Amino acid sequence: MPKTRLTDRFGRTVNYVRLSVTDRCDFRCVYCMAEDMTFLPRQQVLTLEEIARVARNFVALGTEKIRLTGGEPLVRKDILELVREIGTYGLQDFAMTTNGSQLPAMADALRQAGLHRLNISLDSLDASKFRTITRTGNLSQVLDGIDAARDAGFRRIKLNVVVMKGRNDEEVPALIEFARRKQVDISFIEEMPLGQISEHDRGLALCTSDEVRALIRPHHELIPTTGDSGGPARYYRMPDSGTRVGFISPHSHNFCATCNRVRVTVEGRLLLCLGNEHSVDLRRVLRGHPVSDDKLQETIINAMDLKPERHHFSSKGDVQILRFMNMTGG
Ligand code: 5AD
Ligand code: SF4
Repeated sequence: MPKTRLTDRFGRTVNYVRLSVTDRCDFRCVYCMAEDMTFLPRQQVLTLEEIARVARNFVALGTEKIRLTGGEPLVRKDILELVREIGTYGLQDFAMTTNGSQLPAMADALRQAGLHRLNISLDSLDASKFRTITRTGNLSQVLDGIDAARDAGFRRIKLNVVVMKGRNDEEVPALIEFARRKQVDISFIEEMPLGQISEHDRGLALCTSDEVRALIRPHHELIPTTGDSGGPARYYRMPDSGTRVGFISPHSHNFCATCNRVRVTVEGRLLLCLGNEHSVDLRRVLRGHPVSDDKLQETIINAMDLKPERHHFSSKGDVQILRFMNMTGG
């Protein structure tokens, strides 16, 4: 295993890369997208070969964990080929974030292709609420997808819930019961101010992780786990279940000090921080140096100096980052 060569000015080691493989999605979740979005033209988007080349070079520089994100990664044509390729890199952890809609048909093939873990978004168990939040999503399809993923034998499956006051906060106990019954993990996420949306007021909708914990406590004891994923989630377990409960709290708990990750957008922009605009154009380097990887590796190494110390999300719901989540890579 190569020792990582990616260290930033604050002594943080970067060993985790999230690669967005498309900005497109079959859903239009109210916290993620505007109702009518324009998507990127084909030539601005990295080819699957270019994405694999980025992945391979990060691995050469010590990356041990890769997550594929979107948009919705499973709507990208031939995504299985990319998964199969990255599956040969010997990663410690290879995961994907998905909305689950394509999993009934694809879960098995993804597991066979070498993917280890799945995060599946699930904001409601009520079909009509689910439709309102995702605007186009079909709950029963996603529930089938979750079952298909369980049958496929992934190492772990985690559900992601963005909690919004007055929208799905009263469903928190039901979602916990669902996760326990399906024997999967679940994380509750505070909505982040990424991209300008008009559908709801993020300041009013913010449901903090402390509030979500208070909703769970009457039903289950939450025991803090000591294991630190190096990530922003803080995990708890329950006395009588294997299900872990995570809280991702960009507003109420700043997690930047232990940040170990960077992102690459589908345009090949290397983002050093979710909550800042600092970025480096890898697409230009990829296309300008099609044969040797030296310049690409040098660019990635030098980019680490740009990683900011922390994000500055405000809880008032005002937009500080104009990039939408589908452009960022959930
Ligand atoms: N705030 C928090 N999480 C978000 N996601 C998308 N947009 C936002 C946002 N503004 C999450 C969804 C999904 C993943 C792709 O990103 O929960 O799980
Ligand atoms: Fe699609 Fe995920 Fe964004 Fe929802 S949150 S619109 S499923 S990319």
